Amino acid sequence: MMCLSGLVGLLLVLTTEATVGNSSSCIETEECLLFDVICTTGDFEVRHYDSVKWVSTNETSLLMDIAAMKAFWRLFDYISGNNDKGKKIEMTSPVVMRIPQTDFFEYGVFTLSFLLPAEYQTDIPPNPTNNLVYIHDTPDMNVYVRSYSGWMTCLSDKYTKGRLSTDLDSIGANYKKDFHYGAGYNSPKTLFNRHNEVWLVAEGEPVCSTSD
Ligand SMILES: *[C@@H]1O[C@H](CO)[C@@H](O)[C@H](O)[C@H]1NC(C)=O
Ligand SMILES: *[C@@H]1O[C@H](CO)[C@@H](O)[C@H](O)[C@H]1NC(C)=O
Repeated sequence: MMCLSGLVGLLLVLTTEATVGNSSSCIETEECLLFDVICTTGDFEVRHYDSVKWVSTNETSLLMDIAAMKAFWRLFDYISGNNDKGKKIEMTSPVVMRIPQTDFFEYGVFTLSFLLPAEYQTDIPPNPTNNLVYIHDTPDMNVYVRSYSGWMTCLSDKYTKGRLSTDLDSIGANYKKDFHYGAGYNSPKTLFNRHNEVWLVAEGEPVCSTSD
């Protein structure tokens, strides 16, 4: 019995450690979010992400770009040491924005999240001192991914999301319609070879075919 629970404990540690780490796919940070590729088509990639812990903040706005800027500095403040332990926390990637599906000129709640480093995936992270900042977990999920270069803006995100959803609709793939994620991998100081992604969360078994 002791032996068995020890093994289960070890497996749990191994699986939680596998979600965030140092791999060749980390672009500018030492640690990044790890995933499994389920399949790749000419149009998109399907990935599986494990449940993982983030520090997040919500911002209500008409425009994603304004929400992103306000939210970014609030989270940057948390990792710079404005937390109950006064701890500085390493930047990780990607930075992820949950973008609600809204009509033109409709306010939406945008959620910006920084991935917590591996040590805080297993240990309790420092508590935020700003009450607009909170720690939360995303569930285990499969996502449809389409990448683009340049800057993540309201327009580039909307354009890429439109192309991805058109592709998914043409093959009858089911995904969450009320929001999507925008993932950014570069620091604002990086000017070239920037990498961004749109993630649509798959519902049910992911579809890996193309229409042609
Ligand atoms: C981990 O990250 C550091 C800093 O970016 C890098 O120098 C090192 O090579 C990485 N190690 C592995 C195993 O990828
Ligand atoms: C932040 O926004 C998300 C998405 O709309 C919502 O589910 C969550 O309850 C909000 N959390 C806080 C603390 O406002």
